[in-house]
Amino acid sequence: MGNPKKLLNVLAGNTEKTPPVWMMRQAGRYLPEYREVRKNAGGFLDLCYNPDFATEVTLQPIRRFGFDAAILFADILLVPQAMGMKLWFAEGEGPRLEPVSDLQAIEALKPAEAIHDTLAPVYETVKRLAAELPKETTLIGFAGAPWTVATYMVAGRGSPDQAVARQMMFGDEVAFSRLIDKVTEATIEYLARQVQAGAEVIKLFDSWAGTLSGSYFEKYALKPAVTIATELKRRFPGLPVIGFPRGAGGGYVQFADAGCFDGLALDSSVPAGWARDVLQPKLAVQGNLDPMHLITGGDALENETRRLVDILGEGPFIFNLGHGITPQGKPENVEKMLSVIRG
Ligand code: CP3
Repeated sequence: MGNPKKLLNVLAGNTEKTPPVWMMRQAGRYLPEYREVRKNAGGFLDLCYNPDFATEVTLQPIRRFGFDAAILFADILLVPQAMGMKLWFAEGEGPRLEPVSDLQAIEALKPAEAIHDTLAPVYETVKRLAAELPKETTLIGFAGAPWTVATYMVAGRGSPDQAVARQMMFGDEVAFSRLIDKVTEATIEYLARQVQAGAEVIKLFDSWAGTLSGSYFEKYALKPAVTIATELKRRFPGLPVIGFPRGAGGGYVQFADAGCFDGLALDSSVPAGWARDVLQPKLAVQGNLDPMHLITGGDALENETRRLVDILGEGPFIFNLGHGITPQGKPENVEKMLSVIRG
């Protein structure tokens, strides 16, 4: 059937007998070989901006597990950094930025065309990966979706309820919508460069989509994602795009109906039977094993993995987790998951 790359085949709407598989955060601290490179690189950002190191850690999980896709090693917060924000990672505490809190600060952010100097090493990493990956492995480029990126820009850090960003969104919508527009434009240019450098699929991470409600979900999750996907497809006809409106619940249907996504990544709360009946007739689905199974393993891991393959494997399906694997995940449990999927 068509493409020798299973992942591209599924995103074209076809069904593979053995579903292609990869994992969010597949290059990361659960792998001893990642921790080793990370130690030599210095900080996490040094790793992201060094094409030698970033290429190496992207390839590590491909070598170890033979995943069907490699995802560029980078971070969604490189875009705000390229727009001029100060970004750092406090050890054990996650990302920190100096927040933007009003229209003036938002206007002062660099425009889309000025981000490439900072991001050039990322494009170089994509180029090297495109040259070095095995021919059956698909290269995924990515960016954060504007809402998720904006939540970090406004609050200066992560937070489960996104109170600070929601307050600006409701209280100063002129400023907030300007921020979303600027991030949307920068994201389009960033992703276009990744595609030019060799990324074959683009995934948009909207990790905090589930904190948006009512018309705000449509305005700030759905609409920017559609704008980005549509513009990329206009520039690169046939480019597959995967959306990930994490926590969106029924909002997944709006993404499926938008017509510009080829696949949707499901968080672990999305019922597989519902996804099969409602989403899969429209596009490929990817997901959605609870990453905690990779810490605990055992029968629960095997049973849930088999269940997902049984329910979703009859249609276009990419096996993945519902969110990223955590540092406590065990490589031997990844092996076990793969042996269930691959039989
Ligand atoms: O999936 C992959 O393997 C590709 C690389 C990737 C990373 N971050 C590497 C990373 C991707 C796609 C991301 C996306 C990302 N980054 C998101 C969206 C997806 C999601 O997980 O919800 C978000 C919200 C971020 C922002 C961010 N970066 C957070 C919240 C953290 C966690 C901080 C921590 O210490 O755990 C990061 C750091 C980060 N990004 C790590 C990795 C491998 C760990 C850094 C380290 O090695 O110390």
